[in-house]
Amino acid sequence: MNIEEIKQTVKGRYGKCVEAGGRKEPCCCPSEAPTDLSFAAEHGLYGREELSLVPETALTLSKGCGNPTGFANLKSGEAVVDFGCGAGIDVILAARKVGSSGKVIGVDFTTQMIERAKQAVAEAGLTDAVELLVCDMEQLELRDELADVVMSNCVINLCPDKEAVYREAFRILKSGGRLAISDIVYTEKIDPQVQEHFQSTWAGCVGGTLERDKYFEIVQKAGFRQVDVVAIHPLLSNELEAMVCCPGPEFTPPPAKEDISVVQGKVISIKFTAVKPLIS
Ligand SMILES: C[S@@+](CC[C@H](N)C(=O)[O-])C[C@H]1O[C@@H](n2cnc3c(N)ncnc32)[C@H](O)[C@@H]1O
Repeated sequence: MNIEEIKQTVKGRYGKCVEAGGRKEPCCCPSEAPTDLSFAAEHGLYGREELSLVPETALTLSKGCGNPTGFANLKSGEAVVDFGCGAGIDVILAARKVGSSGKVIGVDFTTQMIERAKQAVAEAGLTDAVELLVCDMEQLELRDELADVVMSNCVINLCPDKEAVYREAFRILKSGGRLAISDIVYTEKIDPQVQEHFQSTWAGCVGGTLERDKYFEIVQKAGFRQVDVVAIHPLLSNELEAMVCCPGPEFTPPPAKEDISVVQGKVISIKFTAVKPLIS
């Protein structure tokens, strides 16, 4: 598939999932959110209490692999941009943290996701605090230096041009601004032939996954510093099986079992922060 075909496939698969009314099963995180908030924060996961603040409309389409608002250290009045916001779970949590003096912008290139996010944000009573845009995060229509924080939850692995994503994040962040990212990476280099097989499962989260070192090279190359890994979770076999055909096997054909077994134990969800250095 070329880049345009990949993007159309991803949009089509997530769009169909929305039209089907979502899917209760997550792609990666444990289905039971922990009740212990400090455990949740330490592992970059949602706590049950914070999920009670999110309307069902967003929860049924939550497809992340972590909880960036849990480790972004958001403060009242900050401006936050969510890359690939889906149906809005993290924009809603962020809007509650930055308050009425702050601003949250969610971008997603799947129109149906943004429509669903608008509905969820309205149900949460946060319309004034949140702006939602249908937009490709590799080419954002947002001005330079508008954000204090760029966050993203299980999306960048889906982007064919990760350098463009991190260049855009760097461009729209203020000097001293920060990243809070939850994503999927390999712990080591994977056989290129197996990676090629995964191409047809793009939308599932190994289609465009990179190995960790290469991924962090891209983050650094964009100009980010102070990369700090907050939490790592090696995907268990049931989690990997769900993840490879996200948003669900009825939308994304699962790869062959033998290909999955080659990467078993080498796929991790990783949560990290990084900083756009202050201009002196
Ligand atoms: C795995 S879902 C995660 C959604 C959301 N972050 C969450 O946690 O529920 C991936 C989302 O990324 C969006 N996406 C993928 N590539 C994108 C791109 N290049 N630009 C904008 N959105 C993108 C998809 O449309 C989909 O809604």
